[in-house]
Amino acid sequence: MSRPSSLVTTVRAPAKINLHLGVGAPREDGMHPLVTVYQAIGLYDDVTVRDAGSWGLGVTVADYVAHDSVPQHGDNIIDRAAALLAAHHGLEPRGEVHVTKSIPVAGGMAGGSADAAAALVALDRLWAVNTPDEDLLAIAAELGSDVPFALLGGTALGTGRGEIVDPVADDNTWWWVLRLSPVGLSTPDVYRHFDRMFPDAPPTPAPADALLAALASQDPEALAATLHNDLQAPALDLRPDLEKQLAFGEAEGALRGLVSGSGPTCVYLCESGDHARAVAGALVASAGDAAPPVVLVANGPVAGAHVVEYSHLEDHR
Ligand code: C5P
Repeated sequence: MSRPSSLVTTVRAPAKINLHLGVGAPREDGMHPLVTVYQAIGLYDDVTVRDAGSWGLGVTVADYVAHDSVPQHGDNIIDRAAALLAAHHGLEPRGEVHVTKSIPVAGGMAGGSADAAAALVALDRLWAVNTPDEDLLAIAAELGSDVPFALLGGTALGTGRGEIVDPVADDNTWWWVLRLSPVGLSTPDVYRHFDRMFPDAPPTPAPADALLAALASQDPEALAATLHNDLQAPALDLRPDLEKQLAFGEAEGALRGLVSGSGPTCVYLCESGDHARAVAGALVASAGDAAPPVVLVANGPVAGAHVVEYSHLEDHR
């Protein structure tokens, strides 16, 4: 006898870097006002969901991601995403979810936000609830400041605490080398350290006009000159080892090295794919006999959370 088919959906969501991150003095709610330019880059987490009678979450990690660094079932942002989306539709969260992580945890590249965005899109399909974009973006903003951008992707201006996102036209392909760090940095710690280092920070963050003009010029050297991150100083103060890494990438020919978001991932802007692969090779070789760092090459902008698999499987359970 044939049994009902089971829906399987996989949604892929990208890592982000901040080309410009202007941070203002904390608001009354403790969050910091931002003017940021996000770019989604080609490093992804995948979230697969399928029908199930209860709620379950499994995790697979790339070889350079520590399994125990990923928040467990119950504490994961995917659990919160499911609970919020289900509540929005008056449902019980049900489904078997699996996340495959290639974006480092606590790396400053919004890996958790990518997972939340991917889960929202995947569960919206699984539950066939057709959530309007506006509602999905509002739920995303509740989950975290970077989650709306993970839905949107591309290159975008972020304001508010980062959750208000407006697409920026960006037809270029920008090449980045990413140097991952085996030990993460906590985003709240970096913001707290920003407050200690800059007690007189103005309420209005630094504008992104120069960076936006450089993006429009499509000139990598102009972009390199305008990359800006107000969280770089506190991240370097907490992790002095990163300073040397930034300088090393630039000495090896990168147009510019920058801490990604709250760090500790360092990103290096390059002129082309070949240039990026050469810089990446030099960063790996620099380790000598020591364990080589994890170095990746990615380009951007790329799409936000998007369906990569959507099928009905015969249910053999
Ligand atoms: O919004 P999200 O959950 O990603 O923020 C994590 C933490 O980072 C916040 O609890 C806060 O400590 C800090 N943060 C901030 N200002 C922002 C974004 C994040 O202070 N604009």
